[in-house]
Amino acid sequence: MNTTPSQEEFEEIIKPIIENDEVQKMKNYRQHADSSCYDHCMNVAYYTYYICKKLNLDYKSAARASMLHDFFLYDWRVKSDDRKGFHGFRHPRISLENAEKYFDLNEKEQDIILKHMWPITIKLPKYKESYIITLTDKFSALFETMKYYNKKPSFQKVYANFIIFLAILFLKS
Ligand SMILES: [Fe+2]
Ligand SMILES: [Fe+2]
Repeated sequence: MNTTPSQEEFEEIIKPIIENDEVQKMKNYRQHADSSCYDHCMNVAYYTYYICKKLNLDYKSAARASMLHDFFLYDWRVKSDDRKGFHGFRHPRISLENAEKYFDLNEKEQDIILKHMWPITIKLPKYKESYIITLTDKFSALFETMKYYNKKPSFQKVYANFIIFLAILFLKS
C-alpha cells in the first residue's frame, strides 16, 4: 500500500476538473484575502489529498470534490436580490449543483462538497473524507488570510503538519 503523496499524482487526479472552462472561472472571484476561489480550492484539494493519501482513505474522491467545493461563481461579498440567505449556508448546495452540471460525482464526492461547511451547516458528514475537508477548508482559509498579512513560507510546513496532527486526533477519537 502506497501512502506517499506526490504532486504528480495530485495533478493527474484533478486534471479533468481544472481543464473545464467553468472551473477556470473560479479565478475571477476572490475568496479569502487575496486568494481566488480557484486558488483556495486548489489549496484545499491538495491538503485534503495529502492527508487522505497518508491515512489510506479515498484520496481521489477527496481531491476531486475539494477542487469543486467552492464552485459557486459569484462574488459573495456583493449583495444581490437573486441570492437570498447567508452565503455560508447556501453555497455548498450551489457548488454541488454547478459541479453536477459538468462532472459525474460519486456519493462521497457529493457529500464532501455538500458538508464542507460543517458544523456551520448542521447535517453531519457521512464519510471520513468529508470530515477531513471540514478541517482543511477552515485552515486553508486561515492560512490564506495569514499569508496575506504575513508572507513567511515557513508557515506552510507548520500549517500542513498541524492539519495532519488534528486529522489524526480527530479520526482516532
Ligand atoms: Fe465553502
Ligand atoms: Fe472553501
